[in-house]
Amino acid sequence: MSTSSNVVKKNKEGGLEGIIAGNSEICEVGVGSHGEHSLHYRGYTIEDLASNASFEEVAWLLLRGKLPNKNELATYKEKLRKLRDLPSTCKHILEEIPAHAHMLDVMRTGCSVLGNLEPESKKHDQYAVADRLIACFSSFFLYWYKFHHQKKRADLNSNEDTTAGHILRVLHEKTPNELQKQALNATLILYAEHEFNASTFTVRTIASTLSDFYSAICGGIGALKGPLHGGANEEAIILIQKFMTPEDAENGIKQMLNEKKLVMGFGHRVYKVVDPRSTFVKAWANKLSIDSKDKHLYPIANRIEEVMWDSKHLFPNLDFYSALVFYYLNIPTNMFTPLFATSRISGWSAHLMEQRANNRLIRPLANYIGPSLQKWIPLEKR
Ligand SMILES: CC(C)(COP(=O)(O)OP(=O)(O)OC[C@H]1O[C@@H](n2cnc3c(N)ncnc32)[C@H](O)[C@@H]1OP(=O)(O)O)[C@@H](O)C(=O)NCCC(=O)NCCS
Repeated sequence: MSTSSNVVKKNKEGGLEGIIAGNSEICEVGVGSHGEHSLHYRGYTIEDLASNASFEEVAWLLLRGKLPNKNELATYKEKLRKLRDLPSTCKHILEEIPAHAHMLDVMRTGCSVLGNLEPESKKHDQYAVADRLIACFSSFFLYWYKFHHQKKRADLNSNEDTTAGHILRVLHEKTPNELQKQALNATLILYAEHEFNASTFTVRTIASTLSDFYSAICGGIGALKGPLHGGANEEAIILIQKFMTPEDAENGIKQMLNEKKLVMGFGHRVYKVVDPRSTFVKAWANKLSIDSKDKHLYPIANRIEEVMWDSKHLFPNLDFYSALVFYYLNIPTNMFTPLFATSRISGWSAHLMEQRANNRLIRPLANYIGPSLQKWIPLEKR
């Protein structure tokens, strides 16, 4: 058991690195002694889930702790389909947000508005709130984006039974093909949950004060926005697109490393050799690139990966190749992190409920390094 003094010593860099901050049954990030890495949601491997499940099945698993049966899944998909539309007050407020706003700010506002319109109550309990948010999280930014950038009021009632199909159909206003739906579905599954990452821990911290569901989720959105967390996928595609050829990329990345610049989409606080999600998402990026007319970015991304490994032993995290998946799906760059949030709302909700089920206020200590006791100086003498 750690004493408070050795915890403070370990924490001196401020990032809580290596600190176990609580128990959880939701997700296991395995880092073996020989560098082997694994990721399980409720005991199911990410390989099985990303290859076989739908995002809705995974959301159910995360929230309810077990896989749904056939009937439960069909009913759940239909329930989510019916919950995608937004109240007119919420749409009106989204129309008032400026066209240049950050899309995660749009989502945070949308979530906050919904918290006022559909607050938690005995009738609208935490499962109802979670399902509602899982269903309509993409609606906040899709509605806002279409209104401001395409001068249209989006129809949020598609008949697509999956979240992936729905997003692609509303965004592109045409039926997505199977490959596109599967690629987005798998990417959403990979983004759904990742134990005590910064945004999830924020959600749990807010939940631990016994605040409401929506406030905790708004905090999670805020944490996700930063480029060291969710924002990395947007930065990654901007970087990949800067280069015309793999050779160009090799030189550019080497120069960035010489200048000690961060290459977004690489490295991880917990994984040190490989991000197990990256293998899957890379395979989807490859499939989409083969299917696409625009084939030049995938080899560029590959070369960046090689250079990062050879020069710094850094490996791509989920954000690097997911950026390519989103790019090949013709998704605007500023929608990449909102898509991450659209998936992670399932993990956030599961953690919020787990925190509530066995709550203790999260309130660590600070190691004080400020001035020693000072003598009070009256205002007129300063
Ligand atoms: C994710 C991240 C914050 C983890 O950081 P961390 O655990 O604090 O690791 P550190 O910052 O201590 O990195 C260790 C070394 O690798 C370097 N490094 C880590 N990630 C790097 C990156 N993406 N590009 C270049 N160098 C990197 C650091 O500069 C440091 O080098 P040094 O020892 O010469 O100073 C970090 O890897 C990063 O900033 N990555 C880019 C952002 C990103 O992709 N975020 C999404 C995470 S899923």
